[in-house]
Amino acid sequence: ADHSFDYDVLVIGAGPGGYVAAIRAAQLGLKTACAEGRETLGGTCLNVGCIPSKAMLHASEYFDAAANGTMESMGIEVKPKLNLDKMHGQRLDAVDGLTKGIEFLFKKNKVDWKKGYATFQDAHTVKIGDETVTAKDIVIATGSSVTPLPGVEVDNAKGVVVDSTGALELAKVPRKMVVIGGGVIGLELGSVWRRLGAEVTCVEFLDEILPGMDGDIRKESRKIFKKQGIEFKLKTKVTGVTVKGKKAHLTLEPADGGDEETMEADCVLVSIGRRPNTEGLGLDSIGLDVNKRGQIETDHDFRTSVEGVWAIGDVVPGPMLAHKAEDEGIAVAENIAGQTGIVNHAVIPSVVYTLPEIAGVGLTTEQAIEAAGGDKTKVKVGKFPMMANSRAKTNHEPDGLVKVIADAETDRVLGIWAIASVAGTMIAEAGIAMEFGATSEDIAYTCHAHPTHAEAMKEAAMAVQGKPIHI
Ligand code: FAD
Ligand code: NAI
Repeated sequence: ADHSFDYDVLVIGAGPGGYVAAIRAAQLGLKTACAEGRETLGGTCLNVGCIPSKAMLHASEYFDAAANGTMESMGIEVKPKLNLDKMHGQRLDAVDGLTKGIEFLFKKNKVDWKKGYATFQDAHTVKIGDETVTAKDIVIATGSSVTPLPGVEVDNAKGVVVDSTGALELAKVPRKMVVIGGGVIGLELGSVWRRLGAEVTCVEFLDEILPGMDGDIRKESRKIFKKQGIEFKLKTKVTGVTVKGKKAHLTLEPADGGDEETMEADCVLVSIGRRPNTEGLGLDSIGLDVNKRGQIETDHDFRTSVEGVWAIGDVVPGPMLAHKAEDEGIAVAENIAGQTGIVNHAVIPSVVYTLPEIAGVGLTTEQAIEAAGGDKTKVKVGKFPMMANSRAKTNHEPDGLVKVIADAETDRVLGIWAIASVAGTMIAEAGIAMEFGATSEDIAYTCHAHPTHAEAMKEAAMAVQGKPIHI
């Protein structure tokens, strides 16, 4: 240890990026502290993101299965009765257990938790409340927060116009809910309240939901959500929301301009994206700039332009995902310790945890064709519908498909996309295959257990070769 500093490493932020970086740094023998302004550890993900949203998705999925006839079709006759307080209770229990788990891991690994928001004084010194802490290396892992929509004021306490945090804890099922933004949050939390009885309309600015995902997958997902009862208004923007009493009044316009339309709702969810947290960090005092999107740029090793200052997670470019932040957390700690920490940003899965789940890794078909200079013949695609997968069909889960995208010449897998009840779990196989540079033939000739949803992955790979068995 360098005794001129209080710590070898100080991590700012205890989300999946920061807490993982701190634990890894401590495991590597570095004296480590982690500053966190929230009352609990775990960041957005554990407190108001991944975990509580999955708690509500899981519970509401059971409710829906009982309410929508799925259970009945399997010979289980029940009339579900919603106890929303209890559903929220199990959400809070999940958050409580996991955030305390991080506290335990900090103690176990001797990471000091500095409670409070950190502000840089210089590149090796931060102020946290009244305390000044110095460290040889400092990792910025301050994450992101909700992007506001001009003209729309969020008030989570009131519960009429909310962001994702408010939408996780609504005290009552809204009769009518409008979701602004057909991205991951809008579809996940819109699904939760739709399942519990709300009439949900999703307003999306672009001509299709889930931007960034494969074209077929986007279209097919929307069809499935529509069948489940979510209404979509594509190519539409919300120009304003006013609240009168317990009702929200929305004004909408076609994205390319045109006649204004109005709508009424009991709840409006603003979910148009998230933006990096850098305000109040004192980046000026260390001469660190953010880019046009407000992100901190780093090199491949997660070094910023300021010596001794590193950055990871939602505050740097790339997908805003917990597992991406975690992997960067491990890599940055290894790099600080003088090892070679690497994240393969080309193979980061993304998953929407609806039913069915929507997942993908690698390039979309559109990106693969673009990368081939626009030549469609250089890209091969194989698809297999879940309807033809024996396990999905038996389980009454016929919606979705698997799509394998490969290089037409080398057969190397470029991307895999799936809509399936367990697509989030299935996509791990796709990630491993791509990490090992697999061809679609490699997947097609790997024995997959029967009957599993994963067989659809094998059959989609066989379809790239032109010869699936079951369709
Ligand atoms: P964060 O988790 O945002 O953590 C940053 C922490 O830093 C915060 O706790 C903040 O209080 C603290 N902080 C900020 N500034 C300071 C400061 N100056 N001093 C001290 N502390 C500071 N991702 C997935 O992969 N899967 C999902 O299922 C998923 N679901 C989500 C659902 C919702 C509703 C939301 C909102 C997000 C979801 N995400 C999901 C995204 C995921 O939460 C983020 O990608 C992830 O949390 C980013 O981790 P991070 O460590 O970079 O930042
Ligand atoms: P998002 O970026 O996923 O989606 C935002 C959507 O809003 C886009 O479709 C966009 O075109 C649309 N939009 C933007 N401005 C609009 C406007 N004015 N009117 C109508 N539509 C508009 O952002 P979201 O859903 O808020 O999620 C934020 C982040 O959190 C995402 O980057 C995501 O990675 C992460 N997250 C991940 C989850 C997961 O991995 N399962 C779950 C939830 C969030």
